Amino acid sequence: MGKDYFSNRMTVRNFSDRRVPDHVLTDIIERAMRAPTCGNMQLYSVIVTRESAMKSRLSAMHFNQPASTGSDVILTICADFQRFSRWCELSAATPCYNNFHSFISALTDAVIFSQQIVTIAEMEGLGTCYLGTVNYNAADISSLLELPDMVVPVASLAIGYPICDERQVERLPVEAVLHFEKYRHDTDEDLLSLFRAKEEFPDNKKFIKENNKPSLASVFTDIRYPKEMNEKVSHEFIQLLRDKKFL
Ligand SMILES: Cc1cc2nc3c(=O)[nH]c(=O)nc-3n(C[C@H](O)[C@H](O)[C@H](O)COP(=O)(O)O)c2cc1C
Repeated sequence: MGKDYFSNRMTVRNFSDRRVPDHVLTDIIERAMRAPTCGNMQLYSVIVTRESAMKSRLSAMHFNQPASTGSDVILTICADFQRFSRWCELSAATPCYNNFHSFISALTDAVIFSQQIVTIAEMEGLGTCYLGTVNYNAADISSLLELPDMVVPVASLAIGYPICDERQVERLPVEAVLHFEKYRHDTDEDLLSLFRAKEEFPDNKKFIKENNKPSLASVFTDIRYPKEMNEKVSHEFIQLLRDKKFL
């Protein structure tokens, strides 16, 4: 099953009304906690949102993406140095984790933990969808979830039982990402050929047409992840790290 799972997996954005039992959710989280972490400090926390009023408010902060509104549960996974720092303070030790390096450690722990949740949940027959919008409204999400200092949301997952109408999407060929011994410096021609299958993928051709753009790349740069938005989100996230005393 393992190899098939990894070859066949895909993101799910349409969910049935079937409830994910609490014990299933807790079991997934507990098993995901076997993920490796920096110094085994486990620098993450996860907040389960499933109660209807809270879920509506949280979904709005994810721009009411259908994956968010239609899922049974939203998990917000946070980089969390608060718990460990308080333990230090209560144990005759001085915490020294209000810096960028420590944030990166907590971010890394939280992201690895998140993907472990995804893998276990999907292997259990659930569907999952990351909500990258967690970064766009991280300050509002932090207020809604009453996150303390040194706790910042870094990943969000919509989870539920899938309605199986998804199709696998394309990937770059393995050569694009795999380098032996040293980084391979591709010619422009070779690099373009690595992206050819992506450009030929029918859904991507549709995106180009629908958005009236000259290339798939310009759908990314002009529509999906444009400069102004990237800079605004960056600025706001750095401010949040300051407000939460990570920086
Ligand atoms: C960091 C991150 C953010 C993502 N954000 C969203 C999102 O906001 N909405 C969405 O529908 N899918 C989101 N996804 C899912 C990706 O679109 C999906 O993984 C990618 O298109 C590849 O598809 P696959 O997972 O089915 O192979 C996100 C994935 C990651 C890792």
